[in-house]
Amino acid sequence: MYSKIKDYLEMNISDQRLQHSLSTALICVELCSRFGVDEGKGRIAGIAHDISREIVLDSAVITSLDDGYPVTDQERQSPVLLHGRVGAAFLKDNFNLDDNEILQAVRWHTAGHPDMGRLGQILFVADYIEPGRSHISHSFRELIMKLDLNKMSLKILTNQTAYLRDRGYDVSESSMQLYDKLSNFE
Ligand SMILES: [Fe+2]
Ligand SMILES: [Fe+2]
Repeated sequence: MYSKIKDYLEMNISDQRLQHSLSTALICVELCSRFGVDEGKGRIAGIAHDISREIVLDSAVITSLDDGYPVTDQERQSPVLLHGRVGAAFLKDNFNLDDNEILQAVRWHTAGHPDMGRLGQILFVADYIEPGRSHISHSFRELIMKLDLNKMSLKILTNQTAYLRDRGYDVSESSMQLYDKLSNFE
């Protein structure tokens, strides 16, 4: 599955995003190993997560999305937020990927969601901290890597939320629900 998806990405996405996806897959494997989550699933979730990031998410794509979750007003206004959900549907339909943990991880990697599971948390973290990301410092990356999985996810959610609020953007409902869920474990 990993190779099939990688071959597809090599033909269909930019080199920069391919490098990001490869690097995210590596960090996913590292975190899966540390936190006792299936490394093979982490590798697939990492390589596949942005498979629909470069397609045009027009109203036809949004209307045909049928994953059991409602499309929110915010997603309708900023369709790029839907690239995880559209990506999960694409993987299911075109690669016969039927592993629910991987699908949920890909589906919710952008804003986070209480249904994302531990694999989803790992992908959420890896996507944010992979070494190709220039928006975070070496010290922040080191700090994150010392935390447990819930604290990692919370720290990144907090940063992401602050970033959005500073720029006047709304924070998605699912991010806030995930934040509440993880905070309750503390
Ligand atoms: Fe993404
Ligand atoms: Fe990504």
